[in-house]
Amino acid sequence: MNFITNPDIESYIYNLSVPRDPILLEMEEIGHETGFPIVDRIVGRLLYILSKIKDPKLIVELGSGFGYSGYWFAKALDKGKIVLTDLSPENLNLAKKFFTAGNLLEKAEFKVGEAVEIASMYKNIDILFIDIQKTKYKKAVETLKENLSIGGIIIADNTLWKGKVIEKNLDKQTKAIKEFNEYMFSLENFFSVILPVRDGVLVSYKIK
Ligand SMILES: C[S@@+](CC[C@H](N)C(=O)[O-])C[C@H]1O[C@@H](n2cnc3c(N)ncnc32)[C@H](O)[C@@H]1O
Repeated sequence: MNFITNPDIESYIYNLSVPRDPILLEMEEIGHETGFPIVDRIVGRLLYILSKIKDPKLIVELGSGFGYSGYWFAKALDKGKIVLTDLSPENLNLAKKFFTAGNLLEKAEFKVGEAVEIASMYKNIDILFIDIQKTKYKKAVETLKENLSIGGIIIADNTLWKGKVIEKNLDKQTKAIKEFNEYMFSLENFFSVILPVRDGVLVSYKIK
């Protein structure tokens, strides 16, 4: 772990946050062993809590990988559903396996393909979670903001990009993240905050 907060503080919170669900533990193990970039358990808990508070009818996730973040969302759902998207069918097949094991399959749809294109087919999205290529974040919101319900929230991961957003010489991805953050804070009908949790999580509320 090498993110925003003091590593000892990060470890302290991390160790308090052990999931009780063995399926989440198994998914974490796969993520850590293979180096697949899951949001991990601190952000997972945040997604769960935001979802519990919001009680969404529809969550759409851009970039689901093998389902770790989606699994946290799905666990929080009461009557709503979550749409998981990924370019890789293998990832989503693995996600389906974990959702089946966790009795969450009926809450989820799995869609292989370009995430923004798939998401644009849904209206009244209550939570839009963004975790695809960083260069696509801004375009994703430009395309999908009208598909979000009033009172809906956008959650975007990696918005501090290991702290690179404050560096002088920016690579392409960092530049894209910075532009995305500035764009989100400039939108008059959204109210945004960046939480310095793990790699930076932007949460944005659609006011009108
Ligand atoms: C950071 S991982 C997602 C991790 C996942 N959100 C989690 O925490 O468990 C990013 C995923 O997005 C997928 N991806 C990247 N760009 C995409 C796009 N444009 N459309 C759909 N999936 C995309 C990749 O295949 C990868 O599995």
